[in-house]
Amino acid sequence: MHSKERVFSGIQPSGTSHLGTYLGALKNFVALQDDYETFYCIVDLHALTTPRDPKVLRSSVREIAAIYLAAGLDPSRAIIFRQSSVGEHAELCWLMNCVAKVGELSRMTQFKDKTQRGGAEAASVGLYAYPVLQAADILLYNAHLVPVGEDQRQHLELARTLARRFNNLYGDTFVVPEIMIPKTGARIMALDEPTAKMSKSRPTPGGYISLLDEPDEIRRKIRRAKTDSGTEVTATPDKPAISNLLGIYAGLSNRTVPEVEGQYRGKGYGDFKKDLAEVVVEGLSPIRERALELLDDPRELDALLESGAEKARAVARPVLRDAASRMGLD
Ligand code: TYM
Repeated sequence: MHSKERVFSGIQPSGTSHLGTYLGALKNFVALQDDYETFYCIVDLHALTTPRDPKVLRSSVREIAAIYLAAGLDPSRAIIFRQSSVGEHAELCWLMNCVAKVGELSRMTQFKDKTQRGGAEAASVGLYAYPVLQAADILLYNAHLVPVGEDQRQHLELARTLARRFNNLYGDTFVVPEIMIPKTGARIMALDEPTAKMSKSRPTPGGYISLLDEPDEIRRKIRRAKTDSGTEVTATPDKPAISNLLGIYAGLSNRTVPEVEGQYRGKGYGDFKKDLAEVVVEGLSPIRERALELLDDPRELDALLESGAEKARAVARPVLRDAASRMGLD
């Protein structure tokens, strides 16, 4: 057990988790728990970087915990916990804030995107420092591998840079983590706008499929999903909508996009969409049903998170001590 390499990743308890979260991240979390010592965090400190209703935040944390389990994470193998329960995350974040540079944070495209409307001046300092906390999350466990969707690549490059810089300044301390981005499903696009990412904060409900959507809701959203001109079911650059739907089909049926294309050669968009709706319903219904069952017993979920936090603390504490001491804090 202790010789296994470590995996760390996290999901924000904000909005509902959707098909993109599942195919880009969660599905891989589950696959990795057999071969690695895995840490899967519910990153509530990250969620605070934009204002939240405290009640909604609390219930979103439980929702992610339920979804983690319902998707197949096994708490006897995977360590599932909430970030704010392990104070070491915020402490290491401060140390890393003193290693990160304003210039590199200013180049983060997610920060630029998120502040496009309101302007950077009005953004919270937390939103600006967000990637430093993310680096601290990972380095605190000396994780070797971090499974994420494509949108997190830049944040993870920064985590690698900060690990290397710290090691150069203070001696070999942190593992430099590898980024793991899946071949299929790394960037699921919105159903109603295939040039925009499927995102939790998207205002149009027709754009995303929540992991808790009812089967008929899923069927309706797929029926209405945008398609491209032409008739062939192929993933080509001139067909962003069909390419996206093919990626969803392939990801949920564990096949490759060319295999699915082959199956629909000579058939039209209508047939393809009808089957796709059933593939999505079949893939997500067991998760939805199990998650709703688990949400009926919030105390059980809280207990699970607390026991995960205890295990996480045991790993995080000595790593933080070591980093702090190398910087002269002892
Ligand atoms: P978050 O909560 O936005 O998303 C969780 C995971 O889902 C992936 N994802 C997607 N993948 C494919 N297509 C999409 N449309 C899509 N939308 C989301 C994300 O890439 C992510 O892997 N900053 C992170 C949370 C975090 C974290 C960490 C991740 C905090 N600390 C340490 C890894 C390691 C975030 O906001 O993810």
